[in-house]
Amino acid sequence: MHPIQMVDLKRQYHKIKKEVDEALLNVIESTAFINGKPVQEFANNLSAYLGIKHVIPCANGTDALQIAMMALDLKPGDEVITPSFTFIATTEVIAFLRLTPVFVDVDPKTFCMDPLALEKAITSKTKAIVPVHLYGHSAPLDEIMAIAKKHNLVVIEDNAQAIGGDYISKNEKKKTGTIGHIGTTSFFPSKNLGAYGDAGAIFTNDDALADKMKMVANHGQRKRYYYEIVGCNSRLDTIQAAVLNIKLKHLDEYIKARQTVADFYDKAFANNPKITTPYRASYCSHVFHQYTLVLNDVNRDGLNAFLGEHNIPSMIYYPVPGHQQQMFAHYETAKVSLPVTDWLTERVISLPIHTEMDNEQLNFITTKVLEYINR
Ligand SMILES: Cc1ncc(COP(=O)(O)O)c(C=O)c1O
Repeated sequence: MHPIQMVDLKRQYHKIKKEVDEALLNVIESTAFINGKPVQEFANNLSAYLGIKHVIPCANGTDALQIAMMALDLKPGDEVITPSFTFIATTEVIAFLRLTPVFVDVDPKTFCMDPLALEKAITSKTKAIVPVHLYGHSAPLDEIMAIAKKHNLVVIEDNAQAIGGDYISKNEKKKTGTIGHIGTTSFFPSKNLGAYGDAGAIFTNDDALADKMKMVANHGQRKRYYYEIVGCNSRLDTIQAAVLNIKLKHLDEYIKARQTVADFYDKAFANNPKITTPYRASYCSHVFHQYTLVLNDVNRDGLNAFLGEHNIPSMIYYPVPGHQQQMFAHYETAKVSLPVTDWLTERVISLPIHTEMDNEQLNFITTKVLEYINR
């Protein structure tokens, strides 16, 4: 049996090695390491894939969120509503820009922002909402967009974990990340569309916002050496763009492979009272960046250790929710009660899922999980 890993990038690479090696050598040969041709090509290809007007490549998914928020001209103390049950980048960027993160609870089934909690958290200082499509499952965007419209708020979709996912709204299929005013993503190597280093992108259909975000990402300049606003330096390396151009062609097949793994797990764990398998809302396609179980009355640390003894990795995403992190201890808004977030934080466990998993590995993992749970 192949060794089991949370993500197996090596076997994935070997399937596209020839194409990737050639593309990388071409970049090196061209020496156009910054803003070489593949960067714009990738932006164009991704915008066609997503069906969105503007794709602005940048250095990583954290920068993508930062650039999006910098382009909104927010003032210190303005409030941005976001789930606490997410990777830290989502909330960290809000604080980094001296804005106030307002943490709201998530839905226990989708693990994504609860629209009722969102509406309750809106104040006169609220300026933006950042829903996160956690683990590859979309947040309920129809409800979130309706609330945003009613209160005149900007929506930035954090699509780092759901690139390629479909969202179905009124019988129309769109890609996640293209429904809010701005979408952001990460191409961290383990993501569904992963580069060979750090990389990210921002999407929008809004010309003015696109123009501003391009400027922000490029030191605040439109014309070289004339700096209109304070920006930052956030570029997608040509080498990463060359890799992403190749991998984008495989994204749908990568997503299918992840969904096949999820189907296997779902079937193996069906009807077990101690395991809740991931929910799949009818309004979206789950792209399974993670396959995350909710355990009922199971010693999670014990399961994690037992799997480890059999060389099966498992992870807790995330062991401490944002509002309980020390970095936010001085925020009044962090002193909130988020019962669903806390409940999930104690019970979730993510199993290996990637594009290269085979039935032998899956049989072994599910057998071992059930062996521990049913004993
Ligand atoms: C939900 C979410 N937001 C933002 C990020 C930040 O992306 P990056 O690591 O590329 O900065 C990540 C990924 O790591 C993420 O999972």
